[in-house]
Amino acid sequence: MTAVAANPTKIGGHGPPLQGMIIRDAVEADLPAIVEIYNAAIRGRISTAQLDPVSIDERLPWFREHSPESHPLWVDEIDGQIAGWLSFHSFITRCAYRGTAEISVYVSEKFRRLGLGRVLLEKAIAHSSHLEINALVGRIFGHNEPSLRLFERLGFERWGFLPRIARVDDVERDLVIVGRHISAQA
Ligand SMILES: CC(C)(COP(=O)(O)OP(=O)(O)OC[C@H]1O[C@@H](n2cnc3c(N)ncnc32)[C@H](O)[C@@H]1OP(=O)(O)O)[C@@H](O)C(=O)NCCC(=O)NCCS
Repeated sequence: MTAVAANPTKIGGHGPPLQGMIIRDAVEADLPAIVEIYNAAIRGRISTAQLDPVSIDERLPWFREHSPESHPLWVDEIDGQIAGWLSFHSFITRCAYRGTAEISVYVSEKFRRLGLGRVLLEKAIAHSSHLEINALVGRIFGHNEPSLRLFERLGFERWGFLPRIARVDDVERDLVIVGRHISAQA
């Protein structure tokens, strides 16, 4: 077991829907809820290049690649329910890229537009320097307007555009790579 909850962060100041929300390191017992949110996003067809639902067992190796010290996986918990999650992952495993992490953020459909995605991403930006990460990137389908807007609001720029490189249900889709540097004081 890699991820152990340590010093959960209480977030306040975002109005009633977010009161009592904590963001903490995920533990293995959270994996079913993490997978459920992910599978709902797969069905939505605007995020993740997966086309078929994934099982908890299939995601276990992915879960275990995370660790609070280098590549955290956080869950956003509201009243005991997992409402969303954010993961850090190696962007490219070669040494020269060790200061760059790819982040993914997923919010349960029930909890969207309440500011959770923003709070998770803000925390990732603020925490990156503690992880010795100096650049964050996200891979987002060109038609995923909610995500593109979310990342852009938090200072990410479009660093890459790969036209028609994914095929989802017979429709060719573009991939946008968004990124931002992390300043030392972030
Ligand atoms: C993208 C996602 C994480 C946003 O989460 P969220 O908690 O609903 O977003 P927030 O409430 O924090 O919104 C923050 C900003 O993002 C943008 N945004 C979020 N949802 C949006 C939507 N449906 N349409 C347009 N803009 C949207 C807005 O700029 C919003 O700010 P505003 O509410 O002040 O206008 C969520 O829609 C999701 O889980 N999508 C599926 C997974 C995914 O695409 N992940 C990204 C790839 S890694």
